[in-house]
Amino acid sequence: MFKYVKRYWYYALLAPIFMLGEVIMDLLQPNLLARIIDDGVLGLNNSGVGDINVVINIGLLMIGTVIVGAVSGILSGVFAQLCSQKFANDLRVDSFKRVMNLSFEQTYEFSVGSLITRITNDITQIQNFLGLLIRGFVRTLALFIGGIIFMLMLDISFGLILFCSMPIVIVFIYLFLKKARPQYKKLQENLDKLNSIMQEDVSGARVIKAYVKEKDEVNKFNKASKNLSKIQFFVLKLFSYMNPISNLILNFTIVAVIYVGGINIKLNSGITTGDIMAAITYTSMILNALLRMANLFQVFSRAQVSVARINAVLNCLPVISDGDFCEDTKIKGKIELRNVSFAYPDSPSVNVLENLNLVINPGETIGILGSTGSGKSSLVNLLPRFYDCTKGEVLIDDVNVKEYKLDKLRSKISIALQKSELFSTTIFENITWGREDATLGDVRKAASIAQASDFIEAKKDGYFTMIAEKGMSLSGGQKQRINIARCILKEASIIIFDDSTSALDLKTESLLYKELKKNYSDTTKIIITQRIASIKDANRIVVLDKGVIVGIGTHDELLEKCVIYQEIYNSQLKGGVVHE
Ligand SMILES: Nc1ncnc2c1ncn2[C@@H]1O[C@H](COP(=O)(O)OP(=O)(O)O)[C@@H](O)[C@H]1O
Ligand SMILES: [Mg+2]
Repeated sequence: MFKYVKRYWYYALLAPIFMLGEVIMDLLQPNLLARIIDDGVLGLNNSGVGDINVVINIGLLMIGTVIVGAVSGILSGVFAQLCSQKFANDLRVDSFKRVMNLSFEQTYEFSVGSLITRITNDITQIQNFLGLLIRGFVRTLALFIGGIIFMLMLDISFGLILFCSMPIVIVFIYLFLKKARPQYKKLQENLDKLNSIMQEDVSGARVIKAYVKEKDEVNKFNKASKNLSKIQFFVLKLFSYMNPISNLILNFTIVAVIYVGGINIKLNSGITTGDIMAAITYTSMILNALLRMANLFQVFSRAQVSVARINAVLNCLPVISDGDFCEDTKIKGKIELRNVSFAYPDSPSVNVLENLNLVINPGETIGILGSTGSGKSSLVNLLPRFYDCTKGEVLIDDVNVKEYKLDKLRSKISIALQKSELFSTTIFENITWGREDATLGDVRKAASIAQASDFIEAKKDGYFTMIAEKGMSLSGGQKQRINIARCILKEASIIIFDDSTSALDLKTESLLYKELKKNYSDTTKIIITQRIASIKDANRIVVLDKGVIVGIGTHDELLEKCVIYQEIYNSQLKGGVVHE
């Protein structure tokens, strides 16, 4: 965390320097006031005759110190803001970068809601503390120490008063902080909860409406929100006691100052009325400084929790580490699995893929067929290293995927995921997501292969139609086709459709495959589906069952010798799905 502040050390240094300027000016004021009263008004050094010139001169000097103090204060504020804003910005960007590199499991572990809280609210807490620290800490400390010195310089007997009242204030502040401290962690955790509910419910709004669950969800939110308020209220209540109690102590101390001062005047020990006035101002300065220090500790406690939460993100090393192979390979589009087994990190004892061996040659069209949960998505997720296999090796173009630089590996593979993720921008930008230099002509061609051009061009703004968040303004099939167009446009040597044509009718789907075959004959194509009709023309079909390959071959070969394939075929024939 410190390295982020170090980058802006000059601001972090200038702010307290100017603050010191302001404090010195503040500290001079009571003393000058004492001189106006004693010399100018009461004329104590001139046998009781006041001097208007002294009043004017010192008055002007006081105005001067106020102006210098104010300018210093403003400059200190500006530098403190510059430092803390820049610090927070760097920290936010770095944390976000780290979040982008987390594996899916790591993201689930934090929860999306918590990551949002961390990158927004937690960083703001740290930023507030930093701003306060570089200005407030110096100010409070200087006012505190300076106040004591100046007061003792007035008369040593005032020290006795401070010696009595200060410990009371300190003990009292300590007790408050001790009670408040444990609340801050709870506060952030409750914020996490609130953000999680919010994020899940807003993105799942359709399901919530469909099941008429709005009331339940609002109740859930209300409960979480109330919990948050309760903790916030507790902390605020605690600190609202602090002011009146400290005022009480302050007033007692001032009475003591007047009392001790009065006795001293009576005894003629050299203390003047002006001295007493100055001592009163110093007393409140010192005690206020102590209270500010308490506030600083409070913000510190809160920031401390946030620092730990941000560090947890920053120190979370990516599970999938980069290799260093980034050369162009001669072979393009070859895939090989050697004795590959795979279990998800959260259930390491359950192999969802078991000892797979498979070679796919460049330009081949491979169908992967299997019921839901048979491991089809898990299998293709190993290729761009969304996950690493737990046993065996995955090779792309004869190089182990772990050796590649991730960018390089992922540039070879284009995958249209089962769930079409669209972004809230134009259709054009959504399609060019994987290849930003693509022209409108390229986009048109990809859309036409994906059987998407008709519905896109029928829209008023065509390719520049804005898509609402998560593609809510489109039908399932339209989203899938934009998703497929994006996948095709990337021009990778391996194209994977992970159940990404499920919402298309068979006729559209078969047109899509025909176009794909015509335009991308050299590209390796993997088509994952549950429908035999979608892949019966593939070069080979891989049949997966419970994570095991139970058959590889053409449609006809499999119909002949693969029992599971026959079963699937028969069940779909009955449903009238297979169109020969
Ligand atoms: N992120 C995950 N964590 C743990 N288990 C998972 C995860 N994703 C899928 N699985 C499990 O892995 C198995 C295979 O899932 P998947 O590859 O998605 O099947 P398919 O794509 O063939 O429908 C299923 O039993 C599923 O429950
Ligand atoms: Mg799947």
